[in-house]
Amino acid sequence: MGFNTRIVPGPAELAEAAAAWTAERIASAVGVRGACYLALAGGETPRGCYERLAQPPHRDALPWPSLFVYWSDERQVPLDDASSNYAMAKAALLDHVPIPPEHVFPLVGDPTAALRRIPADAGGRPRFDLIHLGLGEDGHTASLFPNSPAVQEARALVAHVHDAPKPPPDRVTLTLPVLNAGRAVLFMVQGASKREALARVLRRDPALPASHVQPLDGELQFIVDRAAAGG
Ligand code: 6PG
Repeated sequence: MGFNTRIVPGPAELAEAAAAWTAERIASAVGVRGACYLALAGGETPRGCYERLAQPPHRDALPWPSLFVYWSDERQVPLDDASSNYAMAKAALLDHVPIPPEHVFPLVGDPTAALRRIPADAGGRPRFDLIHLGLGEDGHTASLFPNSPAVQEARALVAHVHDAPKPPPDRVTLTLPVLNAGRAVLFMVQGASKREALARVLRRDPALPASHVQPLDGELQFIVDRAAAGG
């Protein structure tokens, strides 16, 4: 239990640190288990990390063909829409590294079958090797928003949200049981607008959905910039 917090100067250093943290765990997952199951984050903050992974040394060093890529959440927009989390990751990373297209699983429609391809934990939940998350100013993460029934979901692997306070309103999100079955979970948080939410999440304020992300048997890392940390 518990978590690590690393504070870096700004967005560029956050992208660098998050890419290095991610690359290390991709390499070890493939080294130990022959594959790496990764859930990418949406929003703007992770874009820098994905662009950094698509550059040397990571681009040339990582075992991309052994990666299986999913998303922590998705907006219910066409996959080629600029506001799609898939589209962001595709432009920043997937178009630049040799991940087989059949290993990429956008979180659309009913993704349960695709999630069931992931090796499960003792409780039958897909056990991601790596999960990326962001943090909203209201303490949401993925598309788990405050006071949303999706936060209470204890069985389903995904929840469909139709009234998200952050546009667009229709979304699909991994649920807390899946997030907390992860082997390694990384929050990337930048900017002064996130300061209050981050402080509350690090205090494990139960009113904020992101506070409930605590891997049962895995690591939890926050990489945040000084503006978000309040330095
Ligand atoms: C989404 C995200 C969402 C995001 C936070 C932070 O689809 O919108 O998954 O949870 O991570 O809202 O967004 P920014 O990084 O853009 O501030």
